[in-house]
Amino acid sequence: MTVRIEPASGPLAGSVRVPGDKSIGHRAVMLAALADGTTTITGLPNGADVASTIGAVEALGTRVERGEECLTVHGVGSEFAAGRVTDVDCGNSGTTMRLLAGVVAARPGRITFDGDASLRARPMERVAVPLRAMGAAVQTRDGRPPLRVEGAALRALRWRAAVPSAQVKSAVLLAGWRTAGVTEVEEPIATRDHTERLLHYLGARVTRQGASVRIEGGVPLSARPVSLPGDVSSAAFFLVAGAIVPGSEVLVPNVGVNPTRTGVIGLLRRMGADIELQRPRDECGEPRADLLIRGARLRGIAISAAEVPAAIDELPALAMAAACAEGETSLEGAAELRVKESDRLTALEQLRSLGGEVEISADGFRIHGSGGAPLAGGRVQAHDDHRIAMAFAILGLHTRQGVEIAGSGAVAVSFPGFFAALRTLGATVRP
Ligand code: S3P
Repeated sequence: MTVRIEPASGPLAGSVRVPGDKSIGHRAVMLAALADGTTTITGLPNGADVASTIGAVEALGTRVERGEECLTVHGVGSEFAAGRVTDVDCGNSGTTMRLLAGVVAARPGRITFDGDASLRARPMERVAVPLRAMGAAVQTRDGRPPLRVEGAALRALRWRAAVPSAQVKSAVLLAGWRTAGVTEVEEPIATRDHTERLLHYLGARVTRQGASVRIEGGVPLSARPVSLPGDVSSAAFFLVAGAIVPGSEVLVPNVGVNPTRTGVIGLLRRMGADIELQRPRDECGEPRADLLIRGARLRGIAISAAEVPAAIDELPALAMAAACAEGETSLEGAAELRVKESDRLTALEQLRSLGGEVEISADGFRIHGSGGAPLAGGRVQAHDDHRIAMAFAILGLHTRQGVEIAGSGAVAVSFPGFFAALRTLGATVRP
């Protein structure tokens, strides 16, 4: 599938809703399956990734009812998946695979997780190593999926993570939740804490001390209704679109603003963007707000390694803001971008074919912005990566010829209605 984004004929204006938070959605479905009782989840995103998690917990023995407005999960409790021998298809979703590996590691059984070609290229030893240290037998194929987990009663672990990864942290915490004693994960840089917040909301004993998170094993989870905020990672594309198209004013209501996820807001503001957080509030242990963005002149900034985890999924969108800004934007310490749904640094090099000035390094980039002038435009590949497709789509709005995106169907992983949402703001999207 190919779409063409035409140059914006005027400012973007209006209000646009984004799907529920994908990261929290995966965790809500999994923890609901692990809880005692029935959980209703509202605001789940309709993308393929969370559908993979729903299918996975079903394959592992959980009854799920899909309603118009909510998903009902009949929790199995701490014996979830015990004794099962089965295969689980995780589609494109690394979160499904890595978190569930941790969940199933702590009970006897043999589960083989697999996925699509993109997921089959992603590193899994990072999650296999700590789970083996806890006593599970975990196999990968040359470090990648399929991932086979033979669970057992585990030993509690103190784990010092080498790479900042919320998925690995979560896998170890979820295995620790099902294991006697206290399991602890120390992170080199704090990563998103949705697992900890939701575990706490459902009754687990989980605490943070400095760089470490600790969980007490054997404390049951009690079902409670869960409502999700909109996904800041999806909102990021509209924040950048509103920032780069002069005169725009875009409202994105009900977005999650957990500080471990909102790096993109701070970085865009540092570039000069005008972003307001309206009606801040808290629900189910997660902060949310309405985001209002107005077009502004952007300038280049230096993004350091310490800032990467809180903006990891938004760096492709930020690269588009950098391409339109005044001066240089540099990024370092982001080698993790090479092992996402695609090698995102290589994918971003396509900026050059659109008239951008970009140099890619092993762990980041230098982008010399156009100083507010529209770029030439042209054709790019989505590289089977939803965020690459959406990032270049946004840039298309601020080009002279528009941008054609081959493989644009990838957006369905997190935001099936993305192009329709863009149209509501006044953009022209041609099939
Ligand atoms: C996620 C964590 C991040 C992020 C991914 C979702 C999560 O991955 O890039 O899109 O939901 O925990 P890593 O844990 O590999 O950094």
